[in-house]
Amino acid sequence: MQRSSFCYVAGTPVLETQGLTKHYTLGQETVRALDRVDFTAVQGDFAVVNGPSGSGKTTLLNMLALIDRPSEGEVLFEGRPTRRLSEGELALLRREKIGLVFQTFNLIPVLSVAENVEYPLLLTKTPRGERRGRVAARLEEVGLSGFEKRRPDELSGGQRQRVAVARALVTAPRIVLADEPTANLDSATGRQIMELLQGLNRDHCVTFLVVTHDPSVLDYAQRVLTIRDGRIQGEEKRGAPRPA
Ligand SMILES: Nc1ncnc2c1ncn2[C@@H]1O[C@H](COP(=O)(O)OP(=O)(O)O)[C@@H](O)[C@H]1O
Ligand SMILES: [Mg+2]
Repeated sequence: MQRSSFCYVAGTPVLETQGLTKHYTLGQETVRALDRVDFTAVQGDFAVVNGPSGSGKTTLLNMLALIDRPSEGEVLFEGRPTRRLSEGELALLRREKIGLVFQTFNLIPVLSVAENVEYPLLLTKTPRGERRGRVAARLEEVGLSGFEKRRPDELSGGQRQRVAVARALVTAPRIVLADEPTANLDSATGRQIMELLQGLNRDHCVTFLVVTHDPSVLDYAQRVLTIRDGRIQGEEKRGAPRPA
């Protein structure tokens, strides 16, 4: 992977929230899933948002991924407010600039490994030759060259998550958002996945934001933000900053 495709200018804001708030109404009751969250992810970041179940992590991730809209506040993508964008404009940003990784891998079972990784490039209408090259490169990076023709059900959990990581990277997004990426893996496999993400961050400047309740994930973070009851309670910087 060419470093330059991910690392235009390390340190520039990619995703920012301002007073981000989300309410859910259930009958008479209102749940404040997110409460005035202010947060900035910059290019080259490896940020982890850590909190218990129900603290608002998935809600935050869905807002950052422009899947769900805030009740109040704003999400800025590359400095641009998103509130007034149409569904079509949001979909375009999502498709081209955001990679997603989920707890349950979310691969398409009837497609091969290579077809799963290729899928986002069909949505962006990338020419066939370029698709081939990109899929091969991403599969090599995640250690799955030779597995192109397998189906997801012929892979281990760790291998499935590697496919999901390759798929998240294939469009060269500005940021990869991951929701509990280790939760369905045993701890050794979970660590291998985190090492893979860390290597992609360090060597190729891929920007990551991971939300998790798994404490072992924190070992891989440059920044750890703690969330509780929908509020960011604090931030801790970890490890040496990535060399420029
Ligand atoms: N679609 C929804 N409708 C109603 N309440 C929701 C919905 N999604 C999340 N919640 C509530 O918002 C809070 C935060 O949920 P969530 O973001 O899923 O937390 P986490 O991912 O940290 O476990 C919880 O109280 C949850 O029950
Ligand atoms: Mg969740």
